[in-house]
Amino acid sequence: MLRRNIKSTRSFSITASLGKWTEIPLAPPDKILGISEAYNKDSNNKKINLGVGAYRDNFGKPIIFPSVKKAEVLLLEKETEKEYTPIIGSKNFQNLVKNFIFNNSGKDPNGEKLINEGRIVTSQTISGTGSLRVIADFFNRFYSSKKIIVPKPTWANHIAVLKDAGLEPSFYEYYNTSINGLDYEKLIESIKSVDNETIILLHACCHNPTGMDLTNEQWDEVLNIIIEKNLYPMVDMAYQGFSSGDPYKDIEVIRKLNKLVVDGKIKSYSLCQSFAKNMGLYGERTGSISIITESAEQSQSIESQLKKLIRPMYSSPPIHGSKIVETIFSNEELLNQWLTELNEVVGRLNTVRTKLFEKLDGSIYNWDHLNKQRGMFIYTGLSQEQVIKLRNEYSVYATEDGRFSISGVNDDNVDYLADAMNKVIKESK
Ligand code: LMR
Repeated sequence: MLRRNIKSTRSFSITASLGKWTEIPLAPPDKILGISEAYNKDSNNKKINLGVGAYRDNFGKPIIFPSVKKAEVLLLEKETEKEYTPIIGSKNFQNLVKNFIFNNSGKDPNGEKLINEGRIVTSQTISGTGSLRVIADFFNRFYSSKKIIVPKPTWANHIAVLKDAGLEPSFYEYYNTSINGLDYEKLIESIKSVDNETIILLHACCHNPTGMDLTNEQWDEVLNIIIEKNLYPMVDMAYQGFSSGDPYKDIEVIRKLNKLVVDGKIKSYSLCQSFAKNMGLYGERTGSISIITESAEQSQSIESQLKKLIRPMYSSPPIHGSKIVETIFSNEELLNQWLTELNEVVGRLNTVRTKLFEKLDGSIYNWDHLNKQRGMFIYTGLSQEQVIKLRNEYSVYATEDGRFSISGVNDDNVDYLADAMNKVIKESK
């Protein structure tokens, strides 16, 4: 009797193991994070990592903002629980983030009006990528068009996020590598040619990868086309503060959009943002989405649907990073300290940009575009072959589109880097 039981249990487990995988092909490495993996394996002590957009100091080391450390000390003293936060984050986080971004801490009357009228729904998300994924899924469920246009080029992960959520991304013209500059005429032409109601992804500032942003007048023209064609603006803001060194100055496009909504020229827009870069909370995965709605009533439905969407996806977001953000935003002294530190970080990036520019040989390649670009990156214009040569012969690691994350440059390696770049360019002439 006993034996028979054992036998039947065994045959059950054999049947269960007969399930088969379909063939699983090897996936290519990630275009950005794969560069760090390759860099880590390189034993050359002169190696330089210019791949991922993550800040390094002048000694090549990652940093924790001292204001963030202070906030963590305060949290350690005060925290009494590690309970789940609500599905879309705590009300306190939502309100502080809304006030910081849409009201510029008391400086945008239009944003303030939208907040007071209950027309902004904000949800904490798993950093910038998480916010993009949630909003893309939300569009897929509720928006009239699945078509979304993104600048060419755009952040390497955008297309995958949007496609995986069921949207249909395509490009609008943005940058021309042969002139190392914005292709503004083509940009206008291509936006004009898309179907009405298409979603348009706009980089708020420090366009990734090119570092080239629109001027005030150019933004106005683009926004006019958005109004005429009834396009839906979806703003991605991962580098707030990295253009001017002041996060309140870098959100001109948000202010313009707030005004358009208040004036009744557009009904709604969405913002995906992250504190990964400007508070250095990379691994804490802290960001948000905000949807500007037509009414307080609509806000309630949108909020309920966001909860319904997020709950089966990851239930609720992590709390450590959001509590750091809350602590900094609700303490004036800490807020001012953080603003100063962010300004210093951006100042170092600008110094590095200038130093590199001075050491690059302008007689063999025109480097003027470097000084027009803003943020964490320079978009060099180097070809894929030249980037690969830099990697193979000089252990200089960058993404193959020629984007260099310049925080990897410092006083110790700037000469080596400039020399390697000059040589690679000379050899390919
Ligand atoms: C980048 O562009 O390097 C960053 O946004 C990091 C990432 O996740 O790709």
